[in-house]
Amino acid sequence: MPHDAAEPDGIINPDTWTEVPRIIRESETPLPPPWQDLFGPLRAGSVDGLMVIGQCGQSIDARIATASGHSHYINGAAGLAHLHRLRALVDAVVVGVGTAQADDPQLTVRRVTGPNPARVVIDPSGRLTPRARLLANDGVRRLVIAGPDAAIDLSPDIEVARLATTKGQLAPVSILALLAHRGFRRILIEGGANTVSRFLAAGCLDRLHVVIAPMIIGAGPSSVSLAPIDRIEQAIRAPMRAHILGDEVLLDCDLSAQRIGVGIAKKSV
Ligand SMILES: NC(=O)c1ccc[n+]([C@@H]2O[C@H](COP(=O)([O-])OP(=O)(O)OC[C@H]3O[C@@H](n4cnc5c(N)ncnc54)[C@H](OP(=O)(O)O)[C@@H]3O)[C@@H](O)[C@H]2O)c1
Repeated sequence: MPHDAAEPDGIINPDTWTEVPRIIRESETPLPPPWQDLFGPLRAGSVDGLMVIGQCGQSIDARIATASGHSHYINGAAGLAHLHRLRALVDAVVVGVGTAQADDPQLTVRRVTGPNPARVVIDPSGRLTPRARLLANDGVRRLVIAGPDAAIDLSPDIEVARLATTKGQLAPVSILALLAHRGFRRILIEGGANTVSRFLAAGCLDRLHVVIAPMIIGAGPSSVSLAPIDRIEQAIRAPMRAHILGDEVLLDCDLSAQRIGVGIAKKSV
């Protein structure tokens, strides 16, 4: 397991971070140490012009909450800083309406320096509250992706895009095509588990960042849930590298082998 250049407390030295969001966007210069090792793989996708990153913060036993739904906070300072760094590196951060309603997240970059990404909510039936904090008019684009018949009544400064549904489902590949059409190239699928699992099942992630906190919850929802398979050969193979983040571990999983190209993909949910 590579140990990143770390401070004595194990938290990656933030001083060299400041220029990383600019370099990753504006040049092909390698990122300053230790960031090339950690974020270099996010520079460009191998299938099309997009780089789509899923993330989950979880316990050792892959739980994202207790059985009663309590989830704040599983990850500690280092894991949360990593999430904010991911936000600072992407053009758009995407959540399902379940997360928007349950957590009312801001989806801004606050724990590290860097630009705020556009905020995107997948809301097929229009149940997002107009008071959601991620809709705040703070100068970044905000986009709601809805089904064709959803009743959406939001401020005019919020973009609304509609996609066809199949049994209430929006195809992740269509969501990516829509985001690409609007100019977003590096995209973070932040959560929740339902949304990340759909993108994974549809072959719509280039990488998955799993941040494991040093705790065992024992029961409760899992970070990823897919359709059952019969045999291990059918499992998704994801070559991975491990990085130490303070007292947590980041698994950077490479899903490029099963990533579907957005331009040529069949409709899939
Ligand atoms: N640990 C972490 O890293 C992390 C990160 C984010 C959130 N969370 C936690 O996750 C919980 C919420 O997650 P969740 O899994 O319940 O919900 P979620 O993934 O946030 O949202 C799921 C909902 O989004 C809509 N949706 C997403 N993708 C869709 C698609 N392709 N087609 C149609 N609809 C789609 C659906 O809305 P409808 O139901 O309206 O059809 C779906 O039920 C929160 O408690 C939050 O704390 C954890």
